[in-house]
Amino acid sequence: AVSPTGCPVSPRAAEFDPFEAPYQLDPAEALRWSREQEPVFYSPRLGYWIVSRYDDIKAIFRDNHTFSPSIALEKITPASKEAQAVLERYDYGMNRTLVNEDEPAHMARRRELLEAFSPEALEAHAPMVRRLVREKLDAIVDRGRADLVAEMFWEVPLTVALHFLGVPEEDMEQLRRFSVAHTLNTWGRPSPEQQVEVAEGVGKFWQYSGEVLEKMQRQTQGKGWMYDMIEKNRQKPDVVTDNYLHSMMMAIIVAAHETTALATANAFRQLLSRPAVWDELCDNPELIPAAAEECLRHSGSVVAWRRRATREVSVGGVTIPEDGKILMVTASGNHDPSHFENPDELDIYRDNAVDHLTFGYGSHQCMGKNLGRMEMRIFLEEFTRRLPHLELEEQAFTFLPNTSFRGPEALWVRWDPAKNPERQDP
Ligand code: HEM
Repeated sequence: AVSPTGCPVSPRAAEFDPFEAPYQLDPAEALRWSREQEPVFYSPRLGYWIVSRYDDIKAIFRDNHTFSPSIALEKITPASKEAQAVLERYDYGMNRTLVNEDEPAHMARRRELLEAFSPEALEAHAPMVRRLVREKLDAIVDRGRADLVAEMFWEVPLTVALHFLGVPEEDMEQLRRFSVAHTLNTWGRPSPEQQVEVAEGVGKFWQYSGEVLEKMQRQTQGKGWMYDMIEKNRQKPDVVTDNYLHSMMMAIIVAAHETTALATANAFRQLLSRPAVWDELCDNPELIPAAAEECLRHSGSVVAWRRRATREVSVGGVTIPEDGKILMVTASGNHDPSHFENPDELDIYRDNAVDHLTFGYGSHQCMGKNLGRMEMRIFLEEFTRRLPHLELEEQAFTFLPNTSFRGPEALWVRWDPAKNPERQDP
């Protein structure tokens, strides 16, 4: 095989397939060979240029003119004819949001919408997050065994996301199914039969988003980030456009909740599989923010992100042609020894963990990162206090097959309710 520039493709590059087990189970490990030997390569199976080293990824994030984010939400597997027909039936029109918008439109919009993310605005949500986590913990604390993903890691971030956005809390189960469909549709490789089913889910999600948006637009007193957008859309319709509103409504429900749910599940898995580290957090809860950050580096919930080359450009010494599609494997960058010492070790005292690429970098860097961090911190604070004797059960982890969003689909833990500290100290 040869790449679009006519260069021969190495055997490992030819074999690379992000939908196969090695990448699905551990994307950073699956790209170790690339970090060491061929840090930029063309993947004929994916049709993308893969970039695996920290410095190269950061350089791409830094220059969003040469490396356009326009393909960030494109279907990585093109829709079949049948799936296309389904989407058309729903008048599906997901287009520009923030994350896939070019300059200068992006910055103008981002600036208009920053207020909801100020430290004070975010701090106001903390009591609600803690109340939600406590309620969910109350429900399981005497049980002795639970799948934390099913019991709370999905629902709490989803509730927080809806609250942050000002979206009425309706039918959580349906929203969860919609999110899965959206992830498979955008970052997965559904089979031809699955494609139609997934398209149905995505079409319904699009329709639902439009209906909720219309309801919200009729309300004048609502509070939340979606209402900020609706207001800006009234004041500056050329900056915050109508299609932006509808696209964002759908994209942000997923961006704000799935990322955080998966990050929390990853963090609990990593920390509980190292009982000494877990015990240290129970004894020293002030270490929790640093531990959460290190978990985001070591096992982030976003593991790869996309850009398109707007001109011929050299990355790590390899020429990428104009319009070349790029998959930056941020999980691999986060395990690059040239930036992180002993990168495979989970070290809660690491002083540069915050340099990780899990929130992206540069002008599009995640706007909600401090909300996600706060949720992870509160989950860890409540669990280390109320269930310090929590243990991870032996289990085989499974993942939703896709290139970019990663976290276990279930996380089984157990504990002895007789040893719950609150029993000894009522
Ligand atoms: C963008 C990850 C939570 C809102 C992004 C990007 C990543 C990301 C990788 C693209 C960055 C880039 O292109 O440089 C995450 C992770 C989260 C998380 C790992 C949780 C652990 C949230 C939450 C919200 C949110 C809770 C909202 C309340 C956004 C927005 C953007 C974004 C609005 C687009 C920013 C722009 O393009 O200017 N996020 N995210 N995210 N995220 Fe998050």
